[in-house]
Amino acid sequence: MSSFPEVRLRRFRRTGGLRGLVRETRLSLDQFVMPLFVAPEALPDEALPAMSRVTVDGLLREVEAIVRLGVRAVILFGIPDEKDEEATGAWEEDGIVQQALRALRPEFPDLVLVTDVCLCEYTSHGHCGVIVDGEVHNDRSLELLARTAVSHAEAGADVVAPSDMMDGRVRALREALDDHSFESTPILSYAAKYASAFYGPFREAAGSSPSFGDRRGYQMDPANVREALRECELDLDEGADALIIKPALPYLDVICAAREAFDAPIAAYNVSGEYAMVKAAARSGWLDERQAALESLTAIKRAGADLIISYWTKDLASWL
Ligand code: PBG
Repeated sequence: MSSFPEVRLRRFRRTGGLRGLVRETRLSLDQFVMPLFVAPEALPDEALPAMSRVTVDGLLREVEAIVRLGVRAVILFGIPDEKDEEATGAWEEDGIVQQALRALRPEFPDLVLVTDVCLCEYTSHGHCGVIVDGEVHNDRSLELLARTAVSHAEAGADVVAPSDMMDGRVRALREALDDHSFESTPILSYAAKYASAFYGPFREAAGSSPSFGDRRGYQMDPANVREALRECELDLDEGADALIIKPALPYLDVICAAREAFDAPIAAYNVSGEYAMVKAAARSGWLDERQAALESLTAIKRAGADLIISYWTKDLASWL
């Protein structure tokens, strides 16, 4: 009685109701985070709407709309009007993200406000840390990253998410946050962030392409999975509250390995290139965007992600 013809797996596939009863993986808006880009000037993107830049006023309107649709969390990226060697725009009190947080916080008390903590959008050279003798200097970057995280918490961030990939940044952020009485602010660490070609559209939107070299000196080699687990373990030791694996779709094995190894919440970042590929193919009539997006997001959950940062979060709110 354990094989055909007694066993027929098609029996539970016959109707939508039957399939729903045995579905193993579900998407819920509760676990999605919508990325938003805030800048001094708006820059709409017709082809990739989620890559549009909005002003602080525009952000308030956009957030109003997505909250009404049911979105529960956003992650903010800032594009400053001026960039310099010290990434001043990242940590100054009236930086663009800090302004956005101060505008959003009182209007949307229940919305989870996550901020990306990095220097690349704010440095004149576009690298994620401070340059000393032509290289990204790890330890000199930590202080600026910590200052950035504290300024976000002061402006109203619920969660800070360091994405720079400097060694030791989680501890630096934890200590600085605690010193400023933000011991309750969680750190969502981009623990395993790969040096990926799939960040292309983001770098256009965020204006954060490096002016020389690339990020392989600090972001991870796409060939490595054991190293990703070491990154996760070190970040947890340093005080990370949750881990991000990024990108998502080409790294489902990494999500799965991290899920098996750790009990901390795991996030996956369904990055701009993953979104753009589907958008472009859909525009050519080669696939259906909604179906392809839902299948991709389901695969990311199935691999073991608890929460997903995705440019489809707003669309998902109307699809579900
Ligand atoms: C900042 C940062 C990047 C992304 C998130 N935070 C770009 C990069 O590392 O170059 C990429 C997100 C995406 O592609 O959607 N360091």
